Amino acid sequence: MTEVHLRTAEPSDLLALLALEETCFSPADGKLTKRAFKYHLQHPRNQLVIAYNDQQLVLGYVLVLVKKDAWRLYSLAVHANYRKQGIAKLLLMHIIKNASEKHVNYLTLEVRESNQTAIALYQSLGFRCKTRLPDYYIDASGLRMQLSLKP
Ligand SMILES: CC(C)(COP(=O)(O)OP(=O)(O)OC[C@H]1O[C@@H](n2cnc3c(N)ncnc32)[C@H](O)[C@@H]1OP(=O)(O)O)[C@@H](O)C(=O)NCCC(=O)NCCS
Repeated sequence: MTEVHLRTAEPSDLLALLALEETCFSPADGKLTKRAFKYHLQHPRNQLVIAYNDQQLVLGYVLVLVKKDAWRLYSLAVHANYRKQGIAKLLLMHIIKNASEKHVNYLTLEVRESNQTAIALYQSLGFRCKTRLPDYYIDASGLRMQLSLKP
């Protein structure tokens, strides 16, 4: 497996993030726009973390919206050529550790009901389905999942 490293995304990662987003999501998924990425890169209050290799290639990212009590996992993607190598799990474990250290009570997320890969990943990390969200996406229903970090 390629050596994978994590770091906070920087403004110079914008084009790589946009390219990744383009290959990982369709418009119906609510793809992040250039403007949205720029906002998150310039407001590091939220957590935008990238996974990269020794060649500095961006392999994946996670975006988390930070609130006092509950952090919301807003987006997660790994380049198709680098999937099933534990990169998403690495990104999520990093976020879970950060949230635990900040004494956050919950991590929440929404996922397409049909996205079995992502649902299996979240469940493997302890997320549980909380609510079904009919018509959450333009073309499909979603699930709200939650990980409790309360001691
Ligand atoms: C979902 C996604 C981020 C997973 O990335 P990944 O790096 O391949 O995931 P990982 O390798 O870390 O997988 C970790 C766990 O997820 C589960 N998993 C991953 N791929 C799976 C698959 N194809 N089928 C079933 N379970 C799978 C397994 O539990 C796996 O644990 P294991 O390797 O110990 O069995 C990636 O497929 C992706 O970018 N998809 C498109 C965008 C997307 O759907 N994002 C999520 C939106 S909510």
